Amino acid sequence: MKAWQATPPFGFDALRLIDLPRPTPGPRQVLIKVQAAALNYRDLEMATGTYQGQPQQAFTLLSDGAGQVVEVGAAVTRFSPGERVIGCFWQGWEAGRLSDSAALPLGGPLDGMLSEYVLLDERGVVPCPAHLSMEEAATLPCAALTAWQALVVEGQLKAGDWVLLQGTGGVSLFAFQFALLHGARVIVSSSQDDRLKRLAKLGATGLINYRSTAIWHEQVMAITDGYGVDHVLEVGGPRSFTQSLQSLHPSGQVNVIGYLGGHQGEINPLLILQRNARVRGISVGPRQSFESMNHAIEASGLRPMIDSMHDWLKLPGALAHLQSGRHFGKVVLRITAD
Ligand SMILES: NC(=O)c1ccc[n+]([C@@H]2O[C@H](COP(=O)([O-])OP(=O)(O)OC[C@H]3O[C@@H](n4cnc5c(N)ncnc54)[C@H](OP(=O)(O)O)[C@@H]3O)[C@@H](O)[C@H]2O)c1
Repeated sequence: MKAWQATPPFGFDALRLIDLPRPTPGPRQVLIKVQAAALNYRDLEMATGTYQGQPQQAFTLLSDGAGQVVEVGAAVTRFSPGERVIGCFWQGWEAGRLSDSAALPLGGPLDGMLSEYVLLDERGVVPCPAHLSMEEAATLPCAALTAWQALVVEGQLKAGDWVLLQGTGGVSLFAFQFALLHGARVIVSSSQDDRLKRLAKLGATGLINYRSTAIWHEQVMAITDGYGVDHVLEVGGPRSFTQSLQSLHPSGQVNVIGYLGGHQGEINPLLILQRNARVRGISVGPRQSFESMNHAIEASGLRPMIDSMHDWLKLPGALAHLQSGRHFGKVVLRITAD
């Protein structure tokens, strides 16, 4: 079977499509014939060797993928051959707190989903929502679950809440869909006006161009008539964190998720005190949250927003597309096994 690996010293030139023996399931493992995979910002960092905590050895790329179970181990009870499934980002985090588990993520350091066949523990796999294609299902494990964990599981989002989303990347677009599903009011920000117009048509209440409006927290307050927002999905990082706090309604929540604007910055903790803010880090989510998210996706008929589909053999081109920031929605790879 073929698999795409990132190899030291990393970078696009060090991506390798290699041949590996097709694995056989152990007692509690399922063998998945992977049919689609999806890219995340993290995969770009993993491929280029810039991830904080980058593995030093070669590994199969990508946390996100979906396919069909083709073989199961003797003790497997959760799945049967023929079922359509999705791998969990965290292998070993089923419920409760991440720090109480010994979980590791797919796509570095664990071998990931960009392979014709993948062997996973049955406890690290979920059924695919029935109405989704394999390509759509493959987009869920990282970006969608991060948005769900932040807003719904940890944030207890409710109808009427104000939500502020930064940029139009994978996490933010899923958060947009989940927020609308819950009857929340959404303010979206983007560097590009055409994207804001698209999101206005889809139901955004407030629009901010964070490039042309550098002091955007004042605009958040104007849009909400001075109320502020109840939830922020902070993907900009330390440089936008202060404005996220300044945008907050008292006792509102900031979910620290990403660092698209850089890793360094200054934060005044008194702003957290003055707003009585709840600030928490989000690291995707456990399998239990993935399953409840999938129930909501299925019940609502929600479909992930897909930017483009690529032949998986053209991985470097797909990664370059993600790197360019031209995508609006998920970048998906189609995998066809021999
Ligand atoms: N903690 C976790 O569990 C977790 C999970 C998933 C992702 N993440 C992190 O979250 C971030 C987003 O990931 P993603 O997969 O959604 O990325 P992505 O799909 O690559 O998102 C890229 C988009 O983000 C926007 N953006 C770029 N720079 C920005 C900035 N300085 N401020 C605000 N928005 C900016 C741009 O949108 P516009 O073109 O519209 O401006 C860009 O198109 C990354 O840092 C990633 O590592 C963390």
